[in-house]
Amino acid sequence: GGRKREVNVLVVGLNNSGKTTVVNKFKNEEDRVSDIVPTVGFSVERFQNKNLSFTAFDMSGHGRYRDLWEHYYKDCHGIIFVIDSSDRLRLVVVKEELDLLLQHPDICNKKIPILFFANKMDNKEALSSVKIASGLGLDKIMDKPWHISSSNALTGEGLQEGVEWLTQQIR
Ligand code: GTP
Ligand code: MG
Repeated sequence: GGRKREVNVLVVGLNNSGKTTVVNKFKNEEDRVSDIVPTVGFSVERFQNKNLSFTAFDMSGHGRYRDLWEHYYKDCHGIIFVIDSSDRLRLVVVKEELDLLLQHPDICNKKIPILFFANKMDNKEALSSVKIASGLGLDKIMDKPWHISSSNALTGEGLQEGVEWLTQQIR
């Protein structure tokens, strides 16, 4: 029990990276959905970690919906950026979207934490989190705390470590 602090997190990343699967794993077992379909627009989900009560804005990563992301930058306490580590071809597109986000007026002056999931680590083609970090130039992010965790959203591996880091940063 006890009263938890309410925080908003924005969940972004390209379509098919695994955002909805990640968020679903953060929910209590009885609240999880069994079949996940591509998100249309966005979906609002709730989950708890430690002393925080999270409202997650699980955005669609499809090209036609990416313009929606920026509307949620202002009110978020943290960002979860999900990457399909096995989608090597689209890593440049991930970098483009990340750079747009980092340059946005509602983000660039804020010290909000960014948690990256190098997801689909179970895939044979998956790049390591170190390779993803260097491919995206994460070392250039100086003014915000960031962290990258390898994850498998199907099993939940790596997710807890990531969300605990985020919780630590926000509280
Ligand atoms: P949009 O809502 O379209 O932006 O996609 P999304 O990022 O929410 O992806 P979603 O969670 O719908 O997952 C896309 C597909 O990837 C689904 O078939 C998932 O089962 C699968 N998937 C998600 N995470 C993993 C993972 O860690 N490993 C593997 N192998 N598949 C995953
Ligand atoms: Mg989704």
